Amino acid sequence: MKILLVDGTVLGRKTGAILKQVQTYIEQYDPNLQLELLTFADYKHEIVDGRPFDQYNEGLQQMIHKLEQADGYIFATPIFQGSIPGVLKNAFDFLNPKALRYKPVSIVANGGTYQHHLVVENQLKPILDYFRCLVTPNYVYTHSSHFDEDNNITDENVQERLKELARVFVKYCEMSKTLPKETIDQH
Ligand SMILES: Cc1cc2nc3c(=O)[nH]c(=O)nc-3n(C[C@H](O)[C@H](O)[C@H](O)COP(=O)(O)O)c2cc1C
Repeated sequence: MKILLVDGTVLGRKTGAILKQVQTYIEQYDPNLQLELLTFADYKHEIVDGRPFDQYNEGLQQMIHKLEQADGYIFATPIFQGSIPGVLKNAFDFLNPKALRYKPVSIVANGGTYQHHLVVENQLKPILDYFRCLVTPNYVYTHSSHFDEDNNITDENVQERLKELARVFVKYCEMSKTLPKETIDQH
């Protein structure tokens, strides 16, 4: 299975640092998964404005293809203005509504305040529910104080929770293999 670790921001470093840690843990639980980091900052983003898909820049088209063709995802987001970054929502707006269906997903998020962990519950999870992803019940929210100056995660409890997230995510990957992709539409 191809798993994308999606760093869903063009601004900031901590989400990328969290994903590298999650990658290590997933590899420990299932070395057969193909893991790839997809960093939004590596692409030139354009707003979804209704033009034909082939008129967006080539890199962005490749990014969207990668997103649609992966078998599972770890989405990493910072909290911006009590929400997810616009660039992440914009990427979701490109996707075919069926492209993520029944695919396993885990979420990691980072914010500057402790209170905004509910952004994951109230804003990101509903989008993934719309896509009918298999979202793991555990997600990890980190705060700037969980990192050192080089953005290494120094908090033991965060490390344990990331490990647990990886363990459950790998189980969801197995479960997703047993689910048929062909279903009736229920919009
Ligand atoms: C435009 C902007 C808006 C932000 N809004 C919030 C917010 O509403 N809640 C919050 O907890 N942190 C907020 N932050 C803080 C970021 O989530 C935090 O700076 C970031 O996760 C730190 O990681 P970094 O070192 O990777 O930038 C905001 C940061 C920026 C740049």
